[in-house]
Amino acid sequence: MKKFYIKTFGCQMNVNDSEKMAGILRSLGYEKTDLPEEADLIIVNTCSVRAKPDNKAYSFIGNLKKIKKEKPETIIAVGGCVPQKEKESILRFKHVDLVFGTFNFMKIGELIKRAKKERVVEILNSKIPEEDKVPLIDSYLENPYVAYVTVQRGCNRFCSYCIVPFTRGRERSVKPELVLKEVKRLAERGVKEVHLLGQNVDFYNYEGIDLADLLYMVSEVEGIERIRFTTSHPCGFNRKIVEAMKNIEKVCPYVHLPPQSGSTKILERMNRGYTREEYTEKVMMLKEEIPKVALSGDFIVGFPGETTKDFEETLSLVETCVFDQGFVFEYSPRPFTKASNFKDDVPKEEKNRRLQELQNLLRVQAEEKNKKRLGCIEEVLVEGKSPKGKELSGRTKDNKLVVFDGSEELVGKFVEIEITETSPFFLKGKLLQKVKV
Ligand code: SAH
Ligand code: SF4
Ligand code: F3S
Repeated sequence: MKKFYIKTFGCQMNVNDSEKMAGILRSLGYEKTDLPEEADLIIVNTCSVRAKPDNKAYSFIGNLKKIKKEKPETIIAVGGCVPQKEKESILRFKHVDLVFGTFNFMKIGELIKRAKKERVVEILNSKIPEEDKVPLIDSYLENPYVAYVTVQRGCNRFCSYCIVPFTRGRERSVKPELVLKEVKRLAERGVKEVHLLGQNVDFYNYEGIDLADLLYMVSEVEGIERIRFTTSHPCGFNRKIVEAMKNIEKVCPYVHLPPQSGSTKILERMNRGYTREEYTEKVMMLKEEIPKVALSGDFIVGFPGETTKDFEETLSLVETCVFDQGFVFEYSPRPFTKASNFKDDVPKEEKNRRLQELQNLLRVQAEEKNKKRLGCIEEVLVEGKSPKGKELSGRTKDNKLVVFDGSEELVGKFVEIEITETSPFFLKGKLLQKVKV
């Protein structure tokens, strides 16, 4: 049996694309391996959102040269956001046999067949989204109980720092019937929790059916017990979505709503489309309606023109809104973006200082929020072994990671855990009982 190895960089959507490719390869008789050396086919699914993942992908691809030298029959394929943005950067790696983009990953089977005969470079134009024409194939689930479902691809917002609109094309929503078909199939396969994915998922709109409508539709699928959606955009997130979260028991009280900055001046330069006050108002509305909600966000520090005062406004926004989790990135200029023409004027050391300071504040907030869970009884969907491998781990409805001792047969089940220890990043607890299968 032929073997494939996939290395994935980047966001959940990339992970989902890789799972789909793996599913297609499995249907073609390939078997998955975790060892690139023993693979007949190696796929690198790349991310280009910041210089760091971009460089990581290049160095990973560079290292595959050794394998190609020892086993020249190995097919090496590179896909995803890096080649979609500039295929030339990949073509200089002479050991790469196949280069494809974000619009044709669904054609991986056919592309590989061609790559066995000659070097293939196929980057499609964003006007021909092949992805929607492909029949439903069982994706290869990294986690058999929690699955991603891409409901919207691309982005029209053009935040001035962001390359995604250039790598993923214009925004398009997946037909609700197709979403439901996929979710039903996942439920049949034993999946309990689905994450509806979109670059700006709350702008989901298919002929008038919006995200809230879709949440109601998905919630009717039997067997699916939990529904999450990500990523939200402060302009798209609205009261109707909050109402749906309140009304539908299965929808988890967790929102990832990236503010990026707390300074209205910087938000304007970022072309985010909202002010500091508008962001804060949305969060207050959400917390008022759903007091138990958990909030997470992304932040960029050291954006061109960000003064100490602007940064302090980000700190104060965090103080006001209170986050359960936050991801902080140093600004990284990206090709094609508007901000790449701005002067990258915050020195590297200062970006790093701001990153540390903001991360510290977010850590303190997470710690305080988690501490309140001490002694509480939480319903957890067991996902597998804990990151360290000795215990089991799973998540609460509001997305807190919980580790506890228990036997592996609990994986995929809902259990009650009494929280006995907390940290900023996870909760530890004692198994009380299995609640439902
Ligand atoms: N709306 C998107 C955001 C994708 S990019 C979504 O679906 O998740 C994820 C995060 O990367 C952004 O929220 C932003 O905080 C960060 N990011 C994007 N471009 C960046 C850049 N040029 N420099 C630093 N961080 C960046
Ligand atoms: Fe990028 Fe902005 Fe679109 Fe998110 S909303 S993908 S940050 S351009
Ligand atoms: Fe990266 Fe592309 Fe996702 S640039 S963050 S893999 S959309």
